[in-house]
Amino acid sequence: MPTSHKISLNLNGNPVEATVASHTLLIDFLRDGHALHGVKRSCEMQVCGACTVLVDGRPVSSCTMLAVDADAAAVVTIEGLGGPDDLDPVQAAFLEHGALQCGFCTPGMILAAKALLASDPRPKRAEIEHHLNGNICRCTGYQKIIEAVESLART
Ligand code: FES
Ligand code: FES
Repeated sequence: MPTSHKISLNLNGNPVEATVASHTLLIDFLRDGHALHGVKRSCEMQVCGACTVLVDGRPVSSCTMLAVDADAAAVVTIEGLGGPDDLDPVQAAFLEHGALQCGFCTPGMILAAKALLASDPRPKRAEIEHHLNGNICRCTGYQKIIEAVESLART
């Protein structure tokens, strides 16, 4: 039984090849292996959504996914979405609506919202709330987060 595996994936638009141990979690591959610290570690049990990344466009808790299972996938972290000079529309909406305070949940929240808007560009409020209910925010009370996503659904 192999204890390490060669994987090839697309990470934030760039081809990446790596050898990973069988037990390496995607969160560790991203944070420790690629310094992508926008991927936040909190509950480590698929409850809080802080570690959310997009895998082939789907929001995934990277704390419970093995890196080897990302082989051949396209993985996007918040760093791959946009930077200070070229914010993604979802990032810009969060900023405009004041939808963050400490910012710890924000990368995962934005990526979850991004996936929702990609699958349904005009989600209703109830759908936004349902889709984001796996992402916990300890600061904002959620109202401004919902408003930010709603503003994108209107445009
Ligand atoms: S750290 Fe992964 S869901 Fe909480
Ligand atoms: S802004 Fe602090 S946890 Fe959401």
